[in-house]
Amino acid sequence: MTLRTLGRASLKVTPLGMGCWPISGITSIDVNEADSLATIREAFDAGINFFDTAFCYGFDGESERMIARVLRQDRDKIVLATKGGIHWIEGKQARCGRPETLQSECDESLRRLQTDRIDLYYLHAPDPEVPIEESAGAIGELIRQGKVLSAGLSNASTELLARFHAVCPLTAYQPHFNMLQREIEDSQLPWCVEHGVAAVVYWPLMKGLLAGHLPREHVFNAKDGRRKYPMFSGDEWQRNQDFLDELRAMSIELGRPVSQIVLNWTIQRAGITVALCGAKRPHQIRENAEAMNWSLTLGEIARINAAIAARGPIVSKAAVS
Ligand SMILES: NC(=O)c1ccc[n+]([C@@H]2O[C@H](COP(=O)([O-])OP(=O)(O)OC[C@H]3O[C@@H](n4cnc5c(N)ncnc54)[C@H](OP(=O)(O)O)[C@@H]3O)[C@@H](O)[C@H]2O)c1
Repeated sequence: MTLRTLGRASLKVTPLGMGCWPISGITSIDVNEADSLATIREAFDAGINFFDTAFCYGFDGESERMIARVLRQDRDKIVLATKGGIHWIEGKQARCGRPETLQSECDESLRRLQTDRIDLYYLHAPDPEVPIEESAGAIGELIRQGKVLSAGLSNASTELLARFHAVCPLTAYQPHFNMLQREIEDSQLPWCVEHGVAAVVYWPLMKGLLAGHLPREHVFNAKDGRRKYPMFSGDEWQRNQDFLDELRAMSIELGRPVSQIVLNWTIQRAGITVALCGAKRPHQIRENAEAMNWSLTLGEIARINAAIAARGPIVSKAAVS
């Protein structure tokens, strides 16, 4: 499989990365440690070399700690990305982009990850109380100290991307993107392409919806974090299921699971460098990783694009996680 270069950095990554939020068990239900550890191992064994986590994935860094437990021996074979600038206060996420906070969160992430360097360190989200230049300067300082190899930013406007990049050149930007949520194609993706910044996108499977396994009659568990999103209820849900029916028909014709069709479309999309797919069971990441090993034809992509156009976009604000 061909590796992709992250921005102008020397980091080479697989086009699919493993998103390590679901294994923290905060919004996903029925998560257990044995499955989570096995899912990380399965991702690596299936060829994925890029792991995405954050200081706040788990109330006490469980996601970072589990990655270290499974992949410490293989550290030099993987690219590790984590994020700082969001932490938990009494069960609620709080942003803090102050330099001293980023410095101490980075130090803690290094300890949890049991490594001497983080390959890609993102500001998880801009802090409205702190000028972005200060947060960018702090990540630049972490690079100078050798704790971090390259800088990233997530959940920002195009203006903030440019201001961050002017202080500390970005290697990657991390927004949400999937077949039905493509707002970044208007200005952020062209900005990334123009400035040589990798687009590493989250929610390619729209939190599992686009894996196609949730049937139209699915009733969400009261603890399932997806219940709060409009796309999982009412008219939006019905329209999403109509769209999925088209992908399900293609799935039968191609002999490929819907998830692989969706992920392959995503990593073939112009300007997209990596799609981060979350999983909490080994069989899910195994199914997803296989999407790197084949390609949709141009005709199949055109058919999918027509179905996307018929569905129309979902306009929704990303929930940072
Ligand atoms: N920067 C940010 O603010 C931010 C925000 C969100 C995410 N992220 C990153 O992006 C990653 C991806 O986002 P995400 O994990 O929220 O969403 P996602 O990748 O769109 O969906 C993940 C969920 O889809 C389901 N799934 C995955 N593969 C499947 C398969 N083959 N068959 C059936 N179901 C499958 C699983 O949920 P069920 O089994 O419960 O159905 C899984 O937990 C995160 O893990 C994180 O690393 C970053």
